[in-house]
Amino acid sequence: MEQVISMLRTINPNFFTKNEFKSQNIIQEIDSRTQYDLVQSSPLGNGATGVVYRCICKETNKIYALKIVRDNKDGLNEIVLQRRCNSENVVPIIDVFRCVGHHPGSKPGVKYLYIVMELQREGNLFQFIKCHGGVREETAVHLMKQVVYGLQSLHKQGIIHKDLKPENILLSEGEDKELCAKLSDFGFSCQEKSHPTRVEYTPYYVAPEVLCKDRQYNPYPTSMDLAPYDHRCDIWGLGVTIYTLLTGITPFYSEINGRVMTPIMYDNIQNARYKFPEYQWRGISTNAKDLISKLLITDPKDRLTLRQILKHPWVLEN
Ligand SMILES: Nc1ncnc2c1ncn2[C@@H]1O[C@H](COP(=O)(O)OP(=O)(O)OP(=O)(O)O)[C@@H](O)[C@H]1O
Ligand SMILES: [Mg+2]
Repeated sequence: MEQVISMLRTINPNFFTKNEFKSQNIIQEIDSRTQYDLVQSSPLGNGATGVVYRCICKETNKIYALKIVRDNKDGLNEIVLQRRCNSENVVPIIDVFRCVGHHPGSKPGVKYLYIVMELQREGNLFQFIKCHGGVREETAVHLMKQVVYGLQSLHKQGIIHKDLKPENILLSEGEDKELCAKLSDFGFSCQEKSHPTRVEYTPYYVAPEVLCKDRQYNPYPTSMDLAPYDHRCDIWGLGVTIYTLLTGITPFYSEINGRVMTPIMYDNIQNARYKFPEYQWRGISTNAKDLISKLLITDPKDRLTLRQILKHPWVLEN
């Protein structure tokens, strides 16, 4: 039986008030007194920034996802940017609470942000790929179109996601029983107008213009290496994601077991050097390869735009 603890009920007095959000220019209209119970068993995810549980709304019995992150600038940034993207293809945030941690594993006296989100019942795209191996092209196009719509809404707001990968694309079933894809995890996201140069990334999916700022792998960066990146780093992530979706493997990988990045992998990413091995790509259309090869290009300005992706034959013909 699932163990349910009444946690959020007890912490509700500390929720962000409307005014506090307003004065900090964080979130405009949150003024919820809704109460939730945290479902302690089998978390939905356990990532670098926090744990994701299920929680139940006490009034409606509806189940939501609850992401718990440390209460700091990065945590607030994640909430602000995700909330700003009002799109069908971005996971909606329903409620946010800030208080001293009461959840399993929380550090005594430390404040956390409890982010209540719409539950995406079909899990993340990485789990979907693992379950199906590579997916059919028609399904891949159906999902990728929605990811592109989600990215369009972010980029229109001047927001860069910066961590596009299958684990951060969540799936649910729509009313028409069709699979619905939504972007999630804005933990690395930033605003383009801030001229970002910060180095945080997931190795397999990172764009060359972000990776080259990491002095661990590039100790003597040129001024070009250090120039700000922009929304086009998401186009690279999309290219890696489509490749992975179709084959179940990533185009860039570490050749040393247990190492996430190696000098060869660094070099391959910087030069967009990857292959379409025949045994992995057998039966997959040349249109799919053509699209990927127009996304995984070192110079961001040579990559297709989101609008061009939607007009590519691979998308139009599937
Ligand atoms: N709204 C949701 N509905 C269903 N599952 C979710 C939801 N939000 C997150 N998850 C699950 O939890 C996982 C981790 O969430 P998220 O990516 O937001 O956390 P993270 O700590 O930033 O992760 P990482 O550092 O690994 O990228 C997701 O990959 C997904 O499987
Ligand atoms: Mg994640």
